[in-house]
Amino acid sequence: MPIVIFELPDGTQRKVTAGSGTVLMQAAVSNGVDGIVAECGGNASCATCHVYVDERHGELVGPPNDVEDEMLDFTAAERRPTSRLSCQVQVSDALDGLVVHIPEEQV
Ligand code: FES
Repeated sequence: MPIVIFELPDGTQRKVTAGSGTVLMQAAVSNGVDGIVAECGGNASCATCHVYVDERHGELVGPPNDVEDEMLDFTAAERRPTSRLSCQVQVSDALDGLVVHIPEEQV
C-alpha cells in the first residue's frame, strides 16, 4: 500500500499508509493527522480538508474536477496552484511517496 507524507505547518512530517481505493482525507483522519478537519465527511462541500500538493508531485495527482475547483475558492487558507481537497484525491499505488502540505488553517 502506498505511503503518503503529510507535512504539518511546523514542518513535522507524518508518514501514513494509505489504502488504495480510498482518498487522502481518509488516510489522514484514520491516522490522526492534525490539521485535516473534514467537516463534511468527504462530500467536497466544506473545504476543511485542504492540502497543498508538493510541487514535485503536482502532475502525479492531477487537477481538481469542476466541483472541487469551485470549493477551492472557499478554503480558509489561501488557495494556491497546488491546492487540492484531500477528500477528492484518490489513492493509488502511483501516489507512493506523495508529499502534501497542510495549511495553517482550515476553518
Ligand atoms: S471533507 Fe469536506 S470538502 Fe473534503
